[in-house]
Amino acid sequence: MSMSPTRNQKLLAWVEEVTKLCEPDRVYWCDGSQEEYDRLCQEMVESGTFIRLNPAKRANSYLCRSDPADVARVEDRTFICSRTKDEAGPTNNWTDPDAMRATLKTLYAGCMKGRTLYVIPFSMGPLGSPIAHIGVELTDSPYVAVNMRIMTRMGSKVLDVLGDGDFVPCLHSVGKPLAAGEKDVAWPCNPANRYIVHFPETREIMSFGSGYGGNALLGKKCLALRIASVMAREEGWLAEHMLILGVKSPDGKKRYVAGAFPSACGKTNFAMLIPPAAYEGWEVTTIGDDIAWIKPGPDGTLRAINPEAGYFGVAPGTGEHTNPNAMIACSKNTIFTNVALTDDGDVWWEGMTRDTPAHLIDWKGQDWTPDCGRPAAHPNARFTAPANQTPSIDPDWENPAGVPISAFIFGGRVSNNFPLVFQSFDWTHGVYLAATMGSEATAAADGQKGIRRDPMAMLPFCGYNMADYWTHWLTMGTKIEGDKLPKIFRVNWFRRDENGKFIWPGYGDNMRALEWILARCDNTGSAVESPIGFVPDVQDLRWDGLVDFDKAKFYQIMAVHKDVARVEAETQEAHFAQFGEHAPQALLDQRTALLARLDAAPDVWSLPTAQAAE
Ligand code: GTP
Ligand code: SPV
Ligand code: MN
Repeated sequence: MSMSPTRNQKLLAWVEEVTKLCEPDRVYWCDGSQEEYDRLCQEMVESGTFIRLNPAKRANSYLCRSDPADVARVEDRTFICSRTKDEAGPTNNWTDPDAMRATLKTLYAGCMKGRTLYVIPFSMGPLGSPIAHIGVELTDSPYVAVNMRIMTRMGSKVLDVLGDGDFVPCLHSVGKPLAAGEKDVAWPCNPANRYIVHFPETREIMSFGSGYGGNALLGKKCLALRIASVMAREEGWLAEHMLILGVKSPDGKKRYVAGAFPSACGKTNFAMLIPPAAYEGWEVTTIGDDIAWIKPGPDGTLRAINPEAGYFGVAPGTGEHTNPNAMIACSKNTIFTNVALTDDGDVWWEGMTRDTPAHLIDWKGQDWTPDCGRPAAHPNARFTAPANQTPSIDPDWENPAGVPISAFIFGGRVSNNFPLVFQSFDWTHGVYLAATMGSEATAAADGQKGIRRDPMAMLPFCGYNMADYWTHWLTMGTKIEGDKLPKIFRVNWFRRDENGKFIWPGYGDNMRALEWILARCDNTGSAVESPIGFVPDVQDLRWDGLVDFDKAKFYQIMAVHKDVARVEAETQEAHFAQFGEHAPQALLDQRTALLARLDAAPDVWSLPTAQAAE
């Protein structure tokens, strides 16, 4: 057993308690050093968990293949164990906390036999920042240890800041003890017994049976969203599934926006956007790509920090022509999970290059050729890369005071409804637009089907009753003065045509919607009032250099079809009804007001210039 580098009594007692319960062979306190990271990676190369990539192609980088049954978050195995079911709300799985503790105790008993218990102190947010919070993860997974070193500020320096202070205990086990002399598998897990459990009142996290992403890197979704959302409500701030980016316009003015898109719906890409050639003199910089902690600042603005230090980004679709910043971020010092291996020891995934390699080893370790009918990378394959490797990283990304937010942008993946961009009439209407946001299934979570409502992109991540969270959002709107209150927008990059092709080119061209959003925040951009919100007309958007997109397509995606909008508004009734008395009346009133506006609208509402052209 290595020496404990802390005198924090709570931490020492907890490590001892977990050691007794889980019975690891060894306890190892992570110091967070490069030497330690390299050593743990080398050990995983030797044990077969990691493949070292060709250093000439991708320096200090590794490929890891998960168990094929452990490839994404497991929402049906994720629990919010508040005192009552009502506090967790109808959209979270709930079990009585005492009953859950008993179940987990049985599972954890002896579960780390034959393994090392890693003690991982980590800070979500810049070390010592007043906005940051400290957690400690105890895990039997070295994969988790090295990923946490990239994703968080981790190691001895965190214990120094922690001192005698409080931390969020995060217990994790892959749930697969080793018998004496038994050889380990490359990706130990226990798919039949997975539990991702949160105790919001006591601010504890317990995870069992999965080694993947949000199930296992407990600082991310479990602490920085589910537990933090509970803290945020109590303390008057926001913990959100949001990217944060900065925009500098040619006049030198700098502004920041935060955007919530559901998992695998474009946050990383938007955060690293490179403006098209028509935007000479504009600069977009990255603060964060997945999580934002947003607190009222001393200057009366809402200020956001990125609590993470790395990206756990979706690999498929990330390429030189879509997200060059991400490609540079993962060009070295990166861990790849479930991507394909090239014959020269590099990685590949769908959408990475325009040409497809003639031969690969796929994410399951099998030979792969372009005609074999299987994807080379798993659709939820990920890269874990240090944030500071992105060329677009904002100079203020570690500013402990955060950056002031001008706009909140919400966007789902909806192929047949909702325009490219629109603005809410006011804060309450904006909260309503966010609370009713729908999105199509992606590979980021197991077992998703069809369209589902994903309020604020927080459906899988809110640690308490979702309707009470809406009330919290409505309240936040009353705490920020007039023009310092961010304006709220909805976007949709994902409309498809009759052939299933995306109509809007997306990626860098999303800058065109962003420019309009900023102009609206400055009260300089003009807009038209539609039944669903303020929308830009043709002359309100920059068109230079836009290829494969024209006015006709714009009119197509900006039109509001009364029958479609009505069905949407009508199905919102059941969405709100499931929350019973928790549903804020102000949001119910918004729905009624929308229905009235639609009643008064023509069958197809179209932009003024579209009407003029007819
Ligand atoms: P999580 O990490 O799961 O929270 O995902 P995310 O919201 O960061 O999504 P990400 O940016 O990784 O994008 C997910 C997928 O959507 C990738 O395959 C992207 O290539 C694709 N995507 C992102 N932006 C756009 C866009 O503007 N248009 C289209 N058509 N696809 C996009
Ligand atoms: C998401 O699913 O929203 C992610 C990946 O960002 S995970 O870390 O698995 O939550
Ligand atoms: Mn995410």
